[in-house]
Amino acid sequence: MRVLGIESSCDETSAAVVSGEGNAVRLESLVILSQDVHRIFGGVVPEIASRAHLTAVVPVTRRALADAGLPENGAGVDAIAVTHAPGLVGALLVGVAYAKSLAAAWDVPVLGVHHMEGHLFATALDHADAVPPFTALLVSGGHTLLLDVAAWGDYRLLGSTRDDAAGEAFDKVAKLLGLPYPGGRPIELAARDGDPQRHRFAPPMLHGGQQPGDEDYYDLSFSGLKTAVLRKVRVADAAGTLAAEVPHLARGFQDALVATLAEKTARAARAYARTRVVLGGGVACNAALQAGIRRAVSPFGGVVFAPSPKLATDNAAMIARAGHWRLERNERSDASLNAYASLPIPGLRD
Ligand code: KG4
Ligand code: ZN
Repeated sequence: MRVLGIESSCDETSAAVVSGEGNAVRLESLVILSQDVHRIFGGVVPEIASRAHLTAVVPVTRRALADAGLPENGAGVDAIAVTHAPGLVGALLVGVAYAKSLAAAWDVPVLGVHHMEGHLFATALDHADAVPPFTALLVSGGHTLLLDVAAWGDYRLLGSTRDDAAGEAFDKVAKLLGLPYPGGRPIELAARDGDPQRHRFAPPMLHGGQQPGDEDYYDLSFSGLKTAVLRKVRVADAAGTLAAEVPHLARGFQDALVATLAEKTARAARAYARTRVVLGGGVACNAALQAGIRRAVSPFGGVVFAPSPKLATDNAAMIARAGHWRLERNERSDASLNAYASLPIPGLRD
């Protein structure tokens, strides 16, 4: 089965084609258009995002079809998968309306896909072994989720952030340090020159006495860490030394965040006896995070799979891949398919 995927939940307009059967699904094309316009605002402006999707969605989709060697009329496409939640509703509506129109014109089924379920499937397009059962850590600008994935479609949410998402914390701290938006990559680069001993921040939501069953055993929180960085920024600013402290502050912040994410991910993998750990979301590109999680899970034989940057950030390939799995099970959306700002991941159990 060949599936066209469309993603427009935030500030990437993306289309992709995948084909295959079962877990043997390969990527035929992937086009991602990042809306750089938001950089000047330091965050995504919803209406600008919607309008940019409207301009881009047709050419981006045509390009994905062409790259896959397919004609513009959709011949060879068996179904369409489109992100319908969660995200900016105005942005999602563009992709959903276009996908429904294409499906009607081509007379193929359309399926609404949950964006976070897409992230769970992304790494499987890079690594054939990144398939269930596994522990998943999804860390992006909008979400921070720790899940146990017993099988595709069978998810247990173990922990999530109580305030800022991990990527949001990177972006906010980058702003404090005068680094560009989005801040994850600039912080990672600055931190390479940082002294890990100079500014040590307590890893958030981690203390020795935590037991499985405690509410904070898997949960995460990053706003306190951001405030701790802010305090040090103010001191350095007043002393006129902020520029010199940037690498050290970036390093201290990243080390604390990585320590928490690595320990919580290792707890989840141990608790459910998983040897595979799958990362997803833009923050999964961070090499220090990947290394920290590898260090935490390798003592019990854990192997970490991280997606390539194109598949880590928002993209339509993961939507096509997740949709492919559900379409193979004969799931379809009907004409009432709509967009939702938030919706639980399908297949979530308590
Ligand atoms: O998944 P994504 O592209 O979009 C969302 O769905 O949010 O994630 C974007 C987030 C941004 O917050 C960005 O700062 C962060 O991912 N990010 C990183 C790195 N590259 C991107 N964070 C840490 N280290 C990186 N190398
Ligand atoms: Zn995402």
